[in-house]
Amino acid sequence: MTASSPSLSPTSSPGASASAVTLSLVGADATRQVAAAIARRVRSGDVVLLVGDLGAGKTTFAQGFATGLGVTEPVTSPTFTLVREYALCEPPGEHGPGPALVTLFHADLYRLDTLGDVEDLGIAERVEDGGVAVVEWGDLGSPVLGPGVLTVRLEPGAGPDGRVVVLEDPAGCWHDRWEGLVASLERWAPVVGAAPAEGLPAGEAGR
Ligand SMILES: Nc1ncnc2c1ncn2[C@@H]1O[C@H](COP(=O)(O)OP(=O)(O)OP(=O)(O)O)[C@@H](O)[C@H]1O
Ligand SMILES: [Mg+2]
Repeated sequence: MTASSPSLSPTSSPGASASAVTLSLVGADATRQVAAAIARRVRSGDVVLLVGDLGAGKTTFAQGFATGLGVTEPVTSPTFTLVREYALCEPPGEHGPGPALVTLFHADLYRLDTLGDVEDLGIAERVEDGGVAVVEWGDLGSPVLGPGVLTVRLEPGAGPDGRVVVLEDPAGCWHDRWEGLVASLERWAPVVGAAPAEGLPAGEAGR
């Protein structure tokens, strides 16, 4: 992963949430599978913010997330299109209370300059009735991305394929789903609480 700065600057610091869980993953498939497990618990209005450097695995996560929502078409980086839409065919009730999910939005904020540009994408409004969004570089636009946010930080782990993944629920939107979510990630030995800054050694926890 190489360090590089996107156009926008982060407007909030991650890691301040009451609910956090840390996973130590090895390989892109593990990241896709974790993303799919999370996707199976999303509801209308949810926005998942993906945070991590270039090559951290944000698009890889989005691919698994889309698969978990039943998307079968290829999911590619929306770096130039900014937002891609995928139709979902969810029976009502499949994802808990609220409207059935009809659209997945996959956005990438890397090339945007201002919060106004992020606002113009209309993500908060577009997810209101049957939508869910996964947003790369999402921390850069969090003030205008609506209340239903889950933050997923992808950090370096052990070796080129290791990643430390930290899930956080800063606004408590996942409060009633949190235990179930953590239980569904059991296979990857979730550690409740955010990782220390240097992360956990990948490979010590199960895949
Ligand atoms: N554990 C892992 N999780 C995610 N990706 C991994 C992992 N191990 C290796 N990889 C590889 O790292 C690369 C991640 O690329 P990806 O496009 O998903 O990153 P990105 O964060 O979206 O980058 P960008 O900031 O350029 O959009 C892929 O080639 C993927 O196969
Ligand atoms: Mg990407």
